[in-house]
Amino acid sequence: MKSAANLAREEIKQLKPCVHGGEIWNLSGRKVLEKADILDFSSNVNPLGPSPKAIQTIKKSLSLIPYYPDPNATALLDAIACSFKAINRENVIAGNGSVELIYLFADVFMSKDDVALIPVPTFSEYEKAVRKVGARPKLLKLGPSFKVDSSLFIREMRGTKAVFLCNPNNPTGILTPRADIARIIDEALSENVLVFLDEDFIEFVDEEKRFSFVDEIGRYPNLIVLRSFTKFFGLTGLRVGYALADKEVVKVLSAAKAPWNVNCLAQVAAVAALQDVEHMRRSSKLIKKERKFLMEGLSSISVLKVYPTDANFLFIDVRQSGFTAAQLKEKLLKYGVLIRDCTSFVGIDEYYIRVAVKTRRENLKLLETFKKVLEK
Ligand SMILES: Cc1ncc(COP(=O)(O)O)c(C=O)c1O
Repeated sequence: MKSAANLAREEIKQLKPCVHGGEIWNLSGRKVLEKADILDFSSNVNPLGPSPKAIQTIKKSLSLIPYYPDPNATALLDAIACSFKAINRENVIAGNGSVELIYLFADVFMSKDDVALIPVPTFSEYEKAVRKVGARPKLLKLGPSFKVDSSLFIREMRGTKAVFLCNPNNPTGILTPRADIARIIDEALSENVLVFLDEDFIEFVDEEKRFSFVDEIGRYPNLIVLRSFTKFFGLTGLRVGYALADKEVVKVLSAAKAPWNVNCLAQVAAVAALQDVEHMRRSSKLIKKERKFLMEGLSSISVLKVYPTDANFLFIDVRQSGFTAAQLKEKLLKYGVLIRDCTSFVGIDEYYIRVAVKTRRENLKLLETFKKVLEK
């Protein structure tokens, strides 16, 4: 035998790793910059970090480490259910980050040669999860505004097994209106198509509850809504996310998941985070104010085309600057500012970047650095 790797399934051998933001480890590993020196605008997480109450809870819970965690994360599922109107524990499944649930969904519902519709550019792991099970991603390129055209989407959806939608979308920050999402889910229901709606960034949207479909899952047995503690709650390194769906859907997903998938500290921290209403309020207020500040500041730089956003990050076309996204990233990095070069996203060319909304001091540094690099 040359290598046991040759025995891997064919579809696994074809997989390529996805590129993500937050590359500070790579960079630090290569000693390009020490971690503390980098202002990381490439990772879209709450700039205030996690709730201090969640951190305190973790410290008080270290004695749990010698034990297996609750395999069903019962207290966490209850806390999540309590935070919505029409949700019971049976409608919720927790994951090792929400990304685990993307893979679990594809594993449970997609078979070889099934087709999943994915509008691009979007989060790259949907495509990889679909490919991993031998199913076929059907990539639908969004137009120049990067808005989802629901009529076109519905036409393209026919004959597929599932569709992925990210709202607001990563990397564009664009929020699809409620009526369009409802139309898509209604049509999907009548065609027996599953809708995997990723709302990982929805807590950053003003009037989040008006846009979320979590409280609609009772009406839509074909809907799975994804949420995360990574972005708004800032529990990024702990890896905890969840999905909400009809209880029969949750039952099959739960039967297929790996045991003890959410560790004990992540479980208690997530419960504490959900209870810290004050931290949530402060985070929403900061993002709203700083998003506007950063949007205005970056839009005033004539060579940058900044797209409207409802999330905690901004998507920018930099072609007028004369630099590609990769070149601009290198230039900003020399000043200790890390941005996301979006070239790895399928469906766009090499002239798009994404920057996260951070605190005023950090946002000022970003603006100042852009000006230094672009107005030289
Ligand atoms: C749209 C979207 N969904 C899901 C994820 C996975 O997040 P996590 O596994 O940290 O919850 C990410 C991470 O960047 C994302 O951008």
